[in-house]
Amino acid sequence: MTTSESGNKTETLEEPDRRQFLEKATCAVAGAGVAAAAWPFISSMNPASDVLSKSIVEVDISQIQVDEVKTVEWQSKPVFIFRRSPTQISAMQESMGSRIDPQPDDERVLKPEWLVVIGLCTHLGCVPTKKPEGWFCPCHGSRYDNSGRVIRGPAPKNLYLLPYQFVSADKLLLGKSA
Ligand code: FES
Repeated sequence: MTTSESGNKTETLEEPDRRQFLEKATCAVAGAGVAAAAWPFISSMNPASDVLSKSIVEVDISQIQVDEVKTVEWQSKPVFIFRRSPTQISAMQESMGSRIDPQPDDERVLKPEWLVVIGLCTHLGCVPTKKPEGWFCPCHGSRYDNSGRVIRGPAPKNLYLLPYQFVSADKLLLGKSA
């Protein structure tokens, strides 16, 4: 054991080392305790596996006929997948929609033949019904064209788009960008 220079004190030089060790050990144990206590909270912020599995939905589009809409569920919302005819495509490409929310058709589709939109009215969220000229919302009368662009309010916006990609000529993946 080594004593300090004054000789009066009997404090050893080993004691600070031991104290530092105990302080570090205490901090480490406390840190592990905080992490263990926080884990359930942090874990609860991750999406559950069933939510993740519904965030990407594969859709077979091989049976959809021209001028037909298939409605599927994606993230608890209806999604309209509409196969457009050549006449409908050219009519939509020649128009920007209305002054309410003008947008070129080619910004709304990956392939001109297929329109893929969220099937909820952008006014208060009713499900519009298909009409030859587009969609009609039965709740307050909004109308959308065959590009899903609003042509009569009170809806303030076009039908919302969603991320999707074609994995083949017959299959779409909803929820994943191209
Ligand atoms: S919810 Fe569609 S017009 Fe109001």
